[in-house]
Amino acid sequence: MIPSEPKAPSARIVLGVAGGIAAYKSVDLTRRLRDRGYFVSPVLTPDATRFVGAVTFSALASEPARTSLYADPTTPIPHTYLGQNADLIVVAPATAHVIARYAMGLADDLLMATLLASRAPVLLCPAMHTEMWEQPSVQENLATLRRRGVMVLGPDSGVLAGGDVGAGRMVEPSEIVDTVVSILEGHGGGLLAGRRVLITAGGTREAIDPVRVITNRSSGRQGYALAEVAARLGAEVTLVTTTTREIALDVRGRVDVVSVASAGEMADAVLSRSDASDVVVMAAAVSDFTVVPQPQKIKKDLGPPEISLVPTMDILSALGERRRAGQVIVGFAAETESVVERATEKRRRKNADLIVVNDVSADGVGFDHETNAVTMIFRDEPSVTVSLRSKEAVAYEILASVSSLLS
Ligand SMILES: Cc1cc2nc3c(=O)[nH]c(=O)nc-3n(C[C@H](O)[C@H](O)[C@H](O)COP(=O)(O)O)c2cc1C
Repeated sequence: MIPSEPKAPSARIVLGVAGGIAAYKSVDLTRRLRDRGYFVSPVLTPDATRFVGAVTFSALASEPARTSLYADPTTPIPHTYLGQNADLIVVAPATAHVIARYAMGLADDLLMATLLASRAPVLLCPAMHTEMWEQPSVQENLATLRRRGVMVLGPDSGVLAGGDVGAGRMVEPSEIVDTVVSILEGHGGGLLAGRRVLITAGGTREAIDPVRVITNRSSGRQGYALAEVAARLGAEVTLVTTTTREIALDVRGRVDVVSVASAGEMADAVLSRSDASDVVVMAAAVSDFTVVPQPQKIKKDLGPPEISLVPTMDILSALGERRRAGQVIVGFAAETESVVERATEKRRRKNADLIVVNDVSADGVGFDHETNAVTMIFRDEPSVTVSLRSKEAVAYEILASVSSLLS
């Protein structure tokens, strides 16, 4: 049940409408999204205007519907205006043509250019006849997009245009609104609804003596962003963390925080919970070595102490060995050279489904930054690079890919 008061009333949604019969349902979707309090900017493909008039969308939306890259005197560069300001892009209906163009990176109308000029999460709601839906080309294009972090809702099976019955019917506007609410506000259904997701965050601390530790520069930001976004997508989240950060108010009740310090404590906390988890995301920077700590503070006057390092347990490998069917294991890697090659080798060695690697030598990437840029290395699929953006936006990409691995 969705509360009547929206928590993100000013969120901006670009509603892309493509040329399919289901375009008429997007008129109702526009009204429902407005009723919910969202700012809705409709963008119709030229073919969509053959099905439903732009005037109808303009009358119901937050600003006039746009149909062209060139015909907007108030917004000279409409695709960047729309793409950069969007909190979410919803394409409903998403035709076979739009799906193919998006998978290829074409920017030949305003909707396609907006999709390319945006870092916002994208939700596609495909609609087409069953024969079109079942085409390998359509399925492969969607698989490519999913892998890149695009969220796909539906289609349903049911009565189609012309009286045919089968798969390809666009999900109902009410269900699309529920999914939008779950993405933007963190409740309702969602791509990870009913899934248990275990996430780790922060750098471990290995005690040398009662006051000194060996640690690393991980801030925990990416792990926290993953926990918040997973909760927004409907998951029940456990966050095993070495750092204390604020969790966004809207999802605080859905993220169970377990505090640990050392690699050993993190291993215990993760491995005791992993069997009950559908997804484990190891975003923490776990020390490779620990120290047998001195019981008393080491005295400076005794000169530089000899500290012998002992290897810690490899938690990701342990997860890979004990994985259960259907479970998705995600590891992180921070590299400074041969980034993709090393991460590909790491994924294979650790039997992970996905390794998310960042080149921490690049500007704005990894430790201590508010932003991140990553490459996702999969088991069977080609890798996907996510360019520099907020850690929250990176979390959406990773978790949308995880949801497609789960399905
Ligand atoms: C009556 C009619 C209904 C159509 N319905 C769909 C549909 O539901 N899904 C789809 O992918 N294409 C459908 N098409 C084909 C698209 O309109 C066509 O591929 C068009 O080029 C899509 O353009 P767009 O995706 O750029 O809007 C339909 C065409 C007609 C004439």
